Amino acid sequence: MSVAAGRMADALGGEVPALLARVEERLAGLAAEAGPALAPQTTATIAAGGKRLRPLLVLLAAGSVPADAAPLLRAAVAVELVHAATLVHDDVLDAAALRRGRPTVLAAGGRELAVAAGDFLFARAFSEIAADGVAEPVRLLSAACSDLARGELLQRADAWEVELDRDRYLERCRLKTGSLFTAACGLGARCAGSPAGALAGFGAGVGLAFQLLDDILDVTGPAERTGKHRGTDLLDGTVTLPLILARERDAGLAELDLRQIRTPEQAEAVCEEIAATGALADARTQALTLVATAKQALPATLPEAQRAALLLVADGIVDRYA
Ligand code: IPE
Ligand code: IPE
Ligand code: MG
Ligand code: MG
Repeated sequence: MSVAAGRMADALGGEVPALLARVEERLAGLAAEAGPALAPQTTATIAAGGKRLRPLLVLLAAGSVPADAAPLLRAAVAVELVHAATLVHDDVLDAAALRRGRPTVLAAGGRELAVAAGDFLFARAFSEIAADGVAEPVRLLSAACSDLARGELLQRADAWEVELDRDRYLERCRLKTGSLFTAACGLGARCAGSPAGALAGFGAGVGLAFQLLDDILDVTGPAERTGKHRGTDLLDGTVTLPLILARERDAGLAELDLRQIRTPEQAEAVCEEIAATGALADARTQALTLVATAKQALPATLPEAQRAALLLVADGIVDRYA
């Protein structure tokens, strides 16, 4: 992603790094306002970084810097705050110990602190987006949050269900991940005076592909690369595309009861078995197809520099696993 970001010199008249720096400053400031009990966790969550892919999409979806850049920056900040909030809560739901190479809020501070820190980040996201005094951006972000919650709950409802089919898996990924990518594109587009839906097909497609890749990376690891423990999905009963495809190819995996996987070592061993079936290359091909379709969904009327930057982001998503 950083390579792609570095090659976006022409997007938004070369303003992307400066705009992202302003987003970063605002994120850090908001996180620090969480009060003595929560601020250490919210600040650490923001300071741990991450790819900042969603605020980048907000900016690129605008295509140019509006005369008043404040609403665009607020949208970028709000989207990243929602993302950060969902990660903190997601690690509670997934019982995950490592994120961005550091202990999760759950691991460092416990469940109650993680729930409260995530709630704070969500709340701040909405105060940020509401500061414009315009209803549509609030509605867009709210719709994404509702989808996200539904996706996360669907994942818990389907936990340990090895017979999960691909369509239901994809629906979960659309809800929990695609929706925020769609909102990021919508928020950016409307700041530039375009309809919020102008880039919806692109956002939804790359968001879905992004989750497929994330699910592949959970199987490949290593933690040094992903910042998360390998096999986290298997350990909490989350069935993803690599396992769905691997079960079709390997009778042993088809009979596996996920509840038998209790230790990180056992999860790593099953990751190796999944990889040995060739299912990861298959899953990646499916992600590549989604990205190709998403690229085709870009409107023909987009200015060239904006199109080039969005294509770089789309390609960067699949380059994460080559
Ligand atoms: C992780 O998102 C959660 C998913 C939707 C897969 P990212 O991989 O964008 O997380 P950071 O922000 O870069 O850490
Ligand atoms: C994405 O799913 C979570 C959200 C969209 C909140 P994962 O559970 O796979 O994300 P990671 O792997 O923990 O980052
Ligand atoms: Mg997770
Ligand atoms: Mg994951």
